[in-house]
Amino acid sequence: MSIHFYEPRQGHGLPHDPFNAIVGPRPIGWISSLSGEGVRNLAPYSFFNAFNYVPPIVGFASIGAKDTLRNVQETGEFVWNLATRPLAEAMNASCAAVGPEVDEFALAGLTPTPSRLVAAPRVAESPVAFECKVTQIIQLQQVSGETVPTWLVLGEVVGVHIAAASLKDGVYDTANAGHILRAGGPADYFSVGPEQLFQMHRPR
Ligand SMILES: Cc1cc2nc3c(=O)[nH]c(=O)nc-3n(C[C@H](O)[C@H](O)[C@H](O)COP(=O)(O)O)c2cc1C
Repeated sequence: MSIHFYEPRQGHGLPHDPFNAIVGPRPIGWISSLSGEGVRNLAPYSFFNAFNYVPPIVGFASIGAKDTLRNVQETGEFVWNLATRPLAEAMNASCAAVGPEVDEFALAGLTPTPSRLVAAPRVAESPVAFECKVTQIIQLQQVSGETVPTWLVLGEVVGVHIAAASLKDGVYDTANAGHILRAGGPADYFSVGPEQLFQMHRPR
């Protein structure tokens, strides 16, 4: 097997950096938050994942100090909203680089609806939302110990909203929920459907 090897510090030597395309497709952290003054904010973060079961903990990385990071630092709360195929264009619109005074719910034509346990609103059109309270904000560092201007925000999921239509006999129906995932390049996404489902049990 011929292998292309590179050390990222020296450059990848390819037309496009493959990192994002390889670690993908990734779930999207579509994060709603409120500023200390109560201005709504909504933005997608694909450096996002789940990190613990009990209690459930999710996290996303802010590459640079963005409005969402400032809001979660100020309020200690955020909401994760599920991005689905019907909401893809609105999710994309919500990533516009606009000032902290701009409400991306309005920008993307979405309806903010109150959460139950946190002040940040959730996206009414999204079938699933996690209300989260910040547990840690960790600034990343390089192997040298030098800090990187990226912050990993971790939050405990304290409240979960699931649209009844996404539950089949009480079981969350991932295959039919319309999840979208971010891949590489400037514009690649995947959507998930029943055709991608396969099952495999752990060895006993
Ligand atoms: C699908 C998608 C995924 C993104 N993932 C990230 C990410 O993981 N980290 C990040 O800092 N920005 C990411 N961005 C860019 C932010 O959404 C963008 O900078 C946005 O304006 C930040 O909003 P805020 O300042 O209101 O928090 C992503 C954009 C899109 C469309």
